[in-house]
Amino acid sequence: MRQTSNPESTQREHIPTDIFASADQACTGIADAICELITARKTAGKPAVLGLATGSTPVRLYRELIRRHREEGLSFANVISFNLDEYYGLTGEHPESYRRFMREQLFDWVDLRPENRNLPDGALPREDVLASCRAYEEAIREAGGIDIQILGIGRTGHIGFNEPGSSPESRTRIITLDSLTRRDAARDFLGEENVPRHAITMGVGTILDARKIFLLAWGEAKAEVIAQSVEGPQTDAIPASFLQKHPDCVFCIDEAAASHLTRVRHPWLVGTVEWSPEMIRKAVLWLSRKTKKPLLKLIEEDYSENGMADLLTEKGSAYELNIKMFNTAQHTITGWPGGKPDADDSHRPERANPFPKRSLLLSPEPLDDIYCMGGTLHRLVNQNNDVTVAYLTSGNLAVPDSEVRRVIELMLELGEERESVDDLKFARLLERQLREKGDFGDDPPEVRRLKGLIRRTESRSSARLLEIGSDRLRFLDLPFYEHGRYRTFQPDEKDTKRLIELLREIRPHQIFATGLGNDPLSVPALCFEILRNALAASQSEAWLKDCYIWLYRGPGMEWETHEIDMAVPLSPDEFENKIQGIYQHQTQRNQSPNLGKDDNGNTWSLASKINRATASSYDELGLAEYEAIEGFRRFDLNR
Ligand code: PGA
Repeated sequence: MRQTSNPESTQREHIPTDIFASADQACTGIADAICELITARKTAGKPAVLGLATGSTPVRLYRELIRRHREEGLSFANVISFNLDEYYGLTGEHPESYRRFMREQLFDWVDLRPENRNLPDGALPREDVLASCRAYEEAIREAGGIDIQILGIGRTGHIGFNEPGSSPESRTRIITLDSLTRRDAARDFLGEENVPRHAITMGVGTILDARKIFLLAWGEAKAEVIAQSVEGPQTDAIPASFLQKHPDCVFCIDEAAASHLTRVRHPWLVGTVEWSPEMIRKAVLWLSRKTKKPLLKLIEEDYSENGMADLLTEKGSAYELNIKMFNTAQHTITGWPGGKPDADDSHRPERANPFPKRSLLLSPEPLDDIYCMGGTLHRLVNQNNDVTVAYLTSGNLAVPDSEVRRVIELMLELGEERESVDDLKFARLLERQLREKGDFGDDPPEVRRLKGLIRRTESRSSARLLEIGSDRLRFLDLPFYEHGRYRTFQPDEKDTKRLIELLREIRPHQIFATGLGNDPLSVPALCFEILRNALAASQSEAWLKDCYIWLYRGPGMEWETHEIDMAVPLSPDEFENKIQGIYQHQTQRNQSPNLGKDDNGNTWSLASKINRATASSYDELGLAEYEAIEGFRRFDLNR
């Protein structure tokens, strides 16, 4: 559903922004606008000129356009397209080149003429780049200018590849990629060292010349930069903020990407709000952070000076509110994530009974489990709950070839020592396949399988540190992942069926899951969608009526204190044990922006920061000071 903005609540926003319940809903509206343009131009016998983007963000829009082409006869015969950007130094065959992306995600499926598809050429010799950038600008002018420009946004605030420092007048040129952008691309390139350092991009000025602009953004990772672009000053530190200059630009974003806009995050600052218990909790905890005072020290002036005078009128004194919120936050803390047997549970996040519980942890890829909730997992096991950890996907795409090479060498040595012809034959086959596919070719099934098995061994050794036996681990290898690549995954009923079977077998009392609020094409988000479908299909099952669903959050996206319904504190020893468990995932040390190297190039250093921020936030509220806290939010199935 599209949320209409009232002028009062959007007073801080300098760009019209529409918030949608899902990316798909947003894409329907944009596809309508594109269809209208194409049809109107066709009637007038003219071309429609589209500015196209790449990355995860526009994929769902392209799927919708392809659907309309197939099912509703939408033709792209009169469309001329210009892509925003391209990595410099990649040929069009490279799997991460935007030329290939466009073929795979759109061009191969619609009737847009090859001669009408324009992309910057990333494979030109350096001395020809300047002239080709000028020619690109000229080609856009000759086509009559861009009618509709589609944009994504990077976490640096880039549009196209206009990184911080880009001026609003900039034109098509070669640029140096920001280190954050390169880190964000590390997963796709299987390691940051493989991400190109340069790219060719339309300039901010080129983009601003488009007649109409839609900027799309999904997932909480984009929330901060969206708020800065929409509400902050125009600045080259956030190039997307220059879109404030454009007379016809709309941001179309999902709820997660909107979560840092003032009207969503601090609505009491921009209008009257309905003071639901959830809203009160959010506001009072924010007030404590803002004033840097523990909850119990907040005074009436703090409330009234921060847009919350009406809360006092409605709900009583600061004293009463402070105590109430202190107790609410206090009651989220528990050392018994599976419930404490024989205890009064009226103020505990989990029920005392039944005990022990059948606890099911769903980990989208290996490592998500221990990274996000290793301490809680250890507690659940130690407190004798019946714990199962299910790895939904094999995670094989995130294993670099260098790791496979080591295993093949081991297989060869062993094979020779034991004179095992079959083993040697298989190891040589793998060796040849690896060589033939080259650095960026798609992995043949045998190589992919081996990569998945490597990740299983890592999961097992990390589980061992948490005292979880191998028999408690399940590797589902969901099919959508096995047959796809990032951005092309399309789960279907086969995936849901596998999860339904697992749920029926385990009949869990509690499920720990993640993926709500992630980029909708990411593995966690797709896995969460599969879980939702599996739960919807299990509505009539008795176990579901007595099942709590706890959401954990991935790296860099930890719940904020007001969102936490269960906070499991970790002692320094438990936290250290968890970090050791994370280190068992050796193949992942350079793979993920939040796991791998930090700005100083220190491998793994980010791992030791997780959960500490949550603990500090509790401390700052005036609650007990812990080493680390793993936070969970209860998910209401009927939401
Ligand atoms: P993403 O990238 O769609 O992959 O998040 C967007 C961008 O960098 O512009």
